[in-house]
Amino acid sequence: MEYRRLGASGLKLSALSFGAWVTFGNQFDRGEARELIAQAFDAGINFFDNAETYANGEAERIMGDVLADLRLPRDAWCVSSKVYFGAHDHPAPTQKGLSRKHVIEACEQALRRLRVEHLDLYYCHRPDPDTPIAETVGAMDTLIRQGKVLYWGTSEWPAESIAEAARIAAERGWYAPSMEQPEYNLLHRERVEVEYAPLYASLGLGTTIWSPLASGLLTGKYADGIPTGSRMATPGYEWLARRMTSAEGQARLARARRFTTLAVELGVKPAQLAIAWCLRNPHVSSVILGASRPEQLRENLGALAVSEQFDAPTWDRVAAAAA
Ligand SMILES: NC(=O)c1ccc[n+]([C@@H]2O[C@H](COP(=O)([O-])OP(=O)(O)OC[C@H]3O[C@@H](n4cnc5c(N)ncnc54)[C@H](OP(=O)(O)O)[C@@H]3O)[C@@H](O)[C@H]2O)c1
Repeated sequence: MEYRRLGASGLKLSALSFGAWVTFGNQFDRGEARELIAQAFDAGINFFDNAETYANGEAERIMGDVLADLRLPRDAWCVSSKVYFGAHDHPAPTQKGLSRKHVIEACEQALRRLRVEHLDLYYCHRPDPDTPIAETVGAMDTLIRQGKVLYWGTSEWPAESIAEAARIAAERGWYAPSMEQPEYNLLHRERVEVEYAPLYASLGLGTTIWSPLASGLLTGKYADGIPTGSRMATPGYEWLARRMTSAEGQARLARARRFTTLAVELGVKPAQLAIAWCLRNPHVSSVILGASRPEQLRENLGALAVSEQFDAPTWDRVAAAAA
């Protein structure tokens, strides 16, 4: 495993990490989660990503139970939560968003579900237009000073809002955001490569990126339709399948097809090539993997070796195939 600094912070995260979205509490329960977390930790993964909204808190409960049950040393791994969407199908107005009340209560609830005394990373899962940014930054600062959170950050915030949060923190002597969690893959590059470009040097921003396989599209598994048991066939995720059948989705599928054809030509698994391509971006602190089965995680861990395997012109061909 390779370890990278989270932006300008001193925290070293594994370059590949492991997340719970869709899988934990939807596709499987504690038994499978235990196998996958143990497999990930044994491979050197030290960051496990979660959120209050994943399976309405059940994903955090499962991860917390498994991490406690495995008795892994608490100082050898990091766990995250994210606040914004709430942990209910129909959250009350105070059970969602980025108000001081919800940011602090959601943290307390995540600590209990994850069975830890602090969250290593805590994210604002989306921007909240109904809460002043200063209120949210102040709540995060409070949690850090209370020892309940170590590093805070954002997910899918516009660059100007991240910069504003950092400016408010600097003015008031509060803890500034350390990281952002954006989508980043061969089919979705703009925000990480262009919009956030000024923030890496000016704020020392780290990134823990999500959906490196575009929810599985870049494995080639959807080339001939939706396979049984896949994410797009999972109850509750029909919106993902609908997105794929739209005109824009069909164009993405065509790009994924061209990419998988090149992967076959290069003699590597498409999933490994897609994840390896994300790893090559030096502004990526950690690539968060998702896996519904141990074989997938095993295959995806092979991306570390693939990222060293090709020369620059070949990587240009990879990007061009998916463009
Ligand atoms: N901050 C945010 O807003 C946000 C949003 C989304 C995700 N995330 C985080 O990022 C993590 C990763 O995102 P993601 O799960 O969307 O990542 P992804 O890598 O794009 O998709 C993972 C899914 O693709 C399929 N897959 C993975 N490896 C495969 C392989 N080798 N062969 C065939 N299929 C394979 C599996 O689904 P099936 O087997 O079910 O098809 C797996 O669950 C999440 O767990 C979550 O922690 C954050």
